[in-house]
Amino acid sequence: MSRILTVRGGVPLTGRVQVRGAKNLVPKAMVAALLGNAPSTLRNVPEIKDVEVVTSLLQIHGITVVKDPVTGDLTMDPANAKTASSAEINTHAGDSRIPILLCGPLIHSIGHAFIPDLGGCKIGDRPIDYHLEVLRKFGAVVDKTGGGILISAPNGLKGTKISLPYPSVGATEQVLLSATRAEGITELSGAATEPEIVDLIAILQKMGAIISVQTDRTIRIEGVRELSGYVHTALPDRNEAASWASAALVTSGDIYVEGASQRDMMTFVNTFRKIGGGMDIHDDGIRFYRQGDLRPLVLETDVHPGFMTDWQQPLVVALTQAEGVSIVHETVYENRFGFTEALIRMGASIQLHRECLGSVPCRFGQRNFIHSAVISGPTPLTGATIDIPDLRGGFSHLIAALAAQGTSTVTGIDIISRGYEKFTDKLAGLGADFDVRDSAQALV
Ligand code: EPU
Repeated sequence: MSRILTVRGGVPLTGRVQVRGAKNLVPKAMVAALLGNAPSTLRNVPEIKDVEVVTSLLQIHGITVVKDPVTGDLTMDPANAKTASSAEINTHAGDSRIPILLCGPLIHSIGHAFIPDLGGCKIGDRPIDYHLEVLRKFGAVVDKTGGGILISAPNGLKGTKISLPYPSVGATEQVLLSATRAEGITELSGAATEPEIVDLIAILQKMGAIISVQTDRTIRIEGVRELSGYVHTALPDRNEAASWASAALVTSGDIYVEGASQRDMMTFVNTFRKIGGGMDIHDDGIRFYRQGDLRPLVLETDVHPGFMTDWQQPLVVALTQAEGVSIVHETVYENRFGFTEALIRMGASIQLHRECLGSVPCRFGQRNFIHSAVISGPTPLTGATIDIPDLRGGFSHLIAALAAQGTSTVTGIDIISRGYEKFTDKLAGLGADFDVRDSAQALV
């Protein structure tokens, strides 16, 4: 049963929220447990949909996953890894892209893997060509079957030299998860180096992997025959933290984000300061608040250490309230401005462009994708009926509705549960004025 949110806007969000382990690390850390010869324990695990999906995917492959009832820590035991049927995998994968990252570990433990037709947020084509090319380089055989792709490696995975055409996060993780137990040395150039990747490397190193990261986006992995289990505390979710920071700006609020880590958010912190947001940085978190008028920005998304694409959508809502003209050039995904349609209906002034309005090298300018935005502000927002399109776009709609004059009706909010732990409880704790009901109208 899907849920519908009725939001009465205009209330500044104030108070504290806690962010726990990063959505973009935790599922991969769970997959890494498959590589061990003993159980692994992951701490700081958020209660989000993506964790449920990976739990089911591991369980159907014979991995025991036990959740500590008090702490929520997950202990995963790969001792009885087994083949799952493609029907089971299709049923449990849902919209997740995680099955592609199970390939290397599954090939090491049971010799093959099946990838169903993948989902994920609709923010572009989201192909898997880099992943398949990486797996082929390790010696895997890729066979398309009805409803998915079967990957096997009759002679095991062998270390290799790989150069990525773009520093893809997922493809870098694919290399790490495949190479650590491959025979021989793997050298990856053009790697992504996001903090979540560094945390995954830390986990693999705890398990006994030999991995070195050079300053020129090269990662070198010396394959080892066996890995042990790990105990690890997942790094906090910097994307959720940045989302709440934008919520504080948009609603003229004041939010202390417990767990926000300055070290992983330095580029966001600089941008937040330039837009005119107030901030107190502490060891255990960051207080983000609105202090007076917001200033416009020229912003380009990029791979780490650039401005994260996942920070863009919530911040665009804040830019609709800045005094003047802002320019945003999205260079990571070709289609991440679809969410602006609802903002325009709410009163925002946003023009979208196919041209690159910036200087970061970009793959989309010559290919006719709408990937730049010009935002003029400030414009008052008014309530609207909104259907949430994707995770970050959905959070952006939510904070626009919370800032708007009048009432908004928001459908599709379950998408937000994929990456934001207990977000309706957090909104209630921050003083937001809303009701949640299921589509059969009963208040829940
Ligand atoms: N790409 C290809 N071929 C591939 C793989 C990627 O062309 O085989 C392209 C993508 O289409 C995209 C670019 O490379 O244009 C970057 O994609 P990347 O592989 O880096 O993204 P991802 O691993 O699929 C993760 C996060 C995203 C986050 C990006 C970029 C997870 C589960 N997802 O996706 O998170 O935006 O890295 O940092 O880790 C989100 O949290 O809302 C989200 C979408």
